[in-house]
Amino acid sequence: MKLKFSIIISFICSLIFGQNNSFEPGKFWKDTDGVHINAHGGGVIFVDGTYYWYGEFKSEGKEGNTALKGVSCYSSKDLYNWHNEGIVLEVEEDPNSEITKGCIMERPKVVFNKKTGKYVMWFHLELKGEGYDAARAAAAISDSPKGPFTYKKSYRPNRGVWPMNFKDEFKSASTAERNLKSWSPEWVTAVKNGMLVRRDFKKGQMARDMTVYVDDNEKAYLIHSSEENLTLHISELTDDYLDFTEKWTRMAPAGHNEAPAIFKKDGIYYMITSGCTGWDPNEARSFKSKSIWGPWETLGNPCVGKGAELTFYAQSTYIFPVQGKKDQFIFMADRWKPDNPIDGAYIWLPVKITHEKPVLNWFDKWNLNVFSEN
Ligand code: DGJ
Repeated sequence: MKLKFSIIISFICSLIFGQNNSFEPGKFWKDTDGVHINAHGGGVIFVDGTYYWYGEFKSEGKEGNTALKGVSCYSSKDLYNWHNEGIVLEVEEDPNSEITKGCIMERPKVVFNKKTGKYVMWFHLELKGEGYDAARAAAAISDSPKGPFTYKKSYRPNRGVWPMNFKDEFKSASTAERNLKSWSPEWVTAVKNGMLVRRDFKKGQMARDMTVYVDDNEKAYLIHSSEENLTLHISELTDDYLDFTEKWTRMAPAGHNEAPAIFKKDGIYYMITSGCTGWDPNEARSFKSKSIWGPWETLGNPCVGKGAELTFYAQSTYIFPVQGKKDQFIFMADRWKPDNPIDGAYIWLPVKITHEKPVLNWFDKWNLNVFSEN
C-alpha cells in the first residue's frame, strides 16, 4: 500500500518537475537531456554524494557492438536522474593502438584506489578484427571519476602462474586430452582438471566478461570468464589495482558462467552470473561463499516472477550498494539488442536476501522506498 502511494507521489512529481522518480526496468531510460542512456554492460560507483555510471557506448546497426567511441559516464545524485558526462575513455584513431576505433571494449568497471588516489577502470578488450580471441583484461586510470581515463595496457592475467590449490598432478598435460570430444564426460572432467589452464599457462589466462570487486580491506579482485568461458577466475589485484598479485583461483570449473556480479552482506559473498548464449538471455545463477577464494556454493536461479527463467530477458552486469541505506543493493542487467545495440535497455532490480540466498523480484516500476518495505 505504502509502495503504491509513493509511486503515485513520484508520478505526480515527475509530471510537475519533469524528473524521474522511479526505475522502469526495460523502458526507455532518458538522461537529463532526454536521450536514452548509453552505458551498457556497466557498473556504478559512489563518490562524494554522486553516483557515477560507466558503460559501453553502443552505436546503431550491426557494427554498434564494437567500440566506435569508447566508455561513457553518467552522474546522478539520486539514481533516477542521470547527467551525461560524455566519453571518459576514448577509442584511438591510431590503427596500431590496442584500443583503436572498432575494437571491442566490454563491461567497463571503475573502482577508486584509496592508496594512490586514482580511479582505475578495468574492461574486457578484444583487438580489432580478431573476434573474441584476444580475451584480454585492460586497465585505464584517471585522477577524477569524470575522467578522462588514460589507457594503460591489456593483459592475459596470470601468465606462468598456477591457481591456488592446483594439484601437482594437473600441471602436466596428457596427450590424450587433445582429442577429446567437446562436452563428452571425459572432456568435462579434463576441463575441470585444468586442461585449458594448462593450455593457456604460458600465454596467460583468458579474460572475457568481467567485474572488479573491492573488499572491506581494500583488496581488489578481477572476476573474469576464462577458459573459453567455461570457468570463472578470481584474480587478486596489486595494491595499486593495476596488475595481478599472482594469487588466483578457479570458480565453478566447467560451469560455463558469464556476466559475474558480486556483493557482500554480513560477511557472505554472493555472486550472480549468467550462462553463455551470446546476446540471447538465459537463466541466471547464484552462488555464495564465506571467502572470496571459495568454496562457492551453488544457489540456483535468483529471479522470481514472469520471465525469471530468462533473467527477465536480460544478463547481469553489476550489483552496487545504495548509499546511506544498510545492506541495500541494486542488481543491474542489460537487455541486449544486437541488431541495433544502442537500443539496449536496462534492468535494475532491488536485491533481497532470504535465508542467505539472493532473490530478484520483478517490478514494472519501483523506487528506493521498496527497500523499507522488505
Ligand atoms: C555475452 C557477454 O556477456 C557480452 O558481454 C558479450 O560478450 C556477448 N556475449 C557477445 O556475444
